[in-house]
Amino acid sequence: MPESKIHNLFPTPLWVVDFEKDVFTSVNQEIESGLETLIESRPEVPSGGTLQTDTDLYEFEEFAEIAALIGTSVKGALDFLSIKEPFEITGMWANINPVGGVNTPHTHPNNYLSGVYYVRTDDGSDQIFFADPRPPASVVSPPVEEDNIYTGNEASVEAKIGRLIMFPAWLTHGVPANRSGKDRISISFNIMFPAFGDRMSKPKWSPTLQLQRTSHS
Ligand SMILES: [Fe+2]
Repeated sequence: MPESKIHNLFPTPLWVVDFEKDVFTSVNQEIESGLETLIESRPEVPSGGTLQTDTDLYEFEEFAEIAALIGTSVKGALDFLSIKEPFEITGMWANINPVGGVNTPHTHPNNYLSGVYYVRTDDGSDQIFFADPRPPASVVSPPVEEDNIYTGNEASVEAKIGRLIMFPAWLTHGVPANRSGKDRISISFNIMFPAFGDRMSKPKWSPTLQLQRTSHS
């Protein structure tokens, strides 16, 4: 057999950042006490539902530490992608999944990156899943002797305390029902480029035909 090489075209990056215990312990304490202050009385959550805060937590002092960790992680991801543009957190909110709570598959429109940081998970509430963004790829799905990244159409990643997971905002993801006996708490966030509207969204190409402008007096 001649040697063959695999070229992985258009891969989808998923960044997994595990903070040291002495870092995440204090960050999580800050978050939990911040949430206690924020949520004075907990509203009734419908069966299977999730309690979510407003999306401006990055503006609160109690969430400054996690916002800083998110910023550092995003910087690393953008460096990896060779993107040097300034970025901003456009949304940051807490998710509290009670027992039975789910997050149905979704994307985060109008952002470049999205992610989630885990404050409290347990056996039975420690997964996040991602769907293959190439629906045609699973039209023919032959049986395989061993699961692999080329033939699967869904991937689960362990959601453990102190872990930050980041991915393209268009990547469909969701959270299975919380089957542990306790709340599952996470902080979600979105990242976008503030210069996108006024500078970055312009076409990358130059026209081959330059039209003469008609001047109006
Ligand atoms: Fe999400």
